[in-house]
Amino acid sequence: MHKVIKSQQLSPNVTRLDVHAPRKSKIRQPGQFVIVHMGKNSERIPLTIADADPEAGTIALVIQAVGKSTRDLVALQPGDSIRGIAGPLGNPTEMIESGHALCIGGGVGTAVVHPIAQGLHQRGVKVTSVIGARSKEWVIFEKELKRLGDVVVCTDDGSYGRKGFVTDAAKEILAAGKIDIVYAVGPVPMMRAVVNLTRPLGVHTIVSLNPVMIDGTGMCGGCRVTIGSETRFACVDGPEFDGHKVNFEELLDRLATYHEFERRANGCADGHCRMEKAAGKLVVA
Ligand code: NAD
Ligand code: FES
Repeated sequence: MHKVIKSQQLSPNVTRLDVHAPRKSKIRQPGQFVIVHMGKNSERIPLTIADADPEAGTIALVIQAVGKSTRDLVALQPGDSIRGIAGPLGNPTEMIESGHALCIGGGVGTAVVHPIAQGLHQRGVKVTSVIGARSKEWVIFEKELKRLGDVVVCTDDGSYGRKGFVTDAAKEILAAGKIDIVYAVGPVPMMRAVVNLTRPLGVHTIVSLNPVMIDGTGMCGGCRVTIGSETRFACVDGPEFDGHKVNFEELLDRLATYHEFERRANGCADGHCRMEKAAGKLVVA
């Protein structure tokens, strides 16, 4: 059992939980995630370790409440417990050891970019972050990223920072100076747009993929993605990959397959619906 130490609402549907997990807080590396299991009949939810405090023995999980299980998770209060947290899982982020990195976070993906920026900063790499949200109230992790380097905030409606998508600001930064590597995490169309910017410039670009995960062990095949000509599993081979090799169209198609399950699960919260039981085997996070 892992006790919730702190709960903090970051935006209208994004919550940060700091959870007691001493061993994980010491060994986690940027890019790694855990799979959270609330209890019997609950979905298994993959969540990046957004931050960690080894002295306090806590890890930070950032959850977007989009389905029944994630809503149950964000309802937890300090003192409540999570039954199972498996991990750290996945491969650590491929880091450069010097130079200038551009870290791009879209919406809740900004929480995934944070540990990458932390790791780069610790190595002495110059970090510039571009983070985007639909409007001011949806901006997350600005303060934390400002401790690690320059931050450009973008909002779709211009209510805070500069108006426009993260790709608008990223395009200017890429054109203005020497960027050695780009890390991009957020909605799939955003990551696809970023790699379309960096490909002609030849700038190595790493993206974090979020296909549906079930077991997190490479056994179920739920998280398969195509990288170049190869099938890979995001849980054991990723979750980060060379963005220039990712088949984003296939990933979007596979994610869309589960939208109907998600919709039905949200509308059938009494637990009697056959579709909800089917969706209970799926991750909606
Ligand atoms: P959102 O839809 O509000 O978008 C956030 C920002 O991304 C926008 O403000 C914009 O700057 C940028 N963006 C979005 N679409 C773009 C496009 N077509 N071109 C350029 N930039 C674009 O984001 P949200 O609702 O916070 O994010 C939810 C999505 O992120 C979900 O689909 C979720 O699955 C995904 N997600 C991905 C990861 C990951 O590891 N890749 C992690 C968490 C969440
Ligand atoms: Fe089952 Fe990756 S989650 S293979």
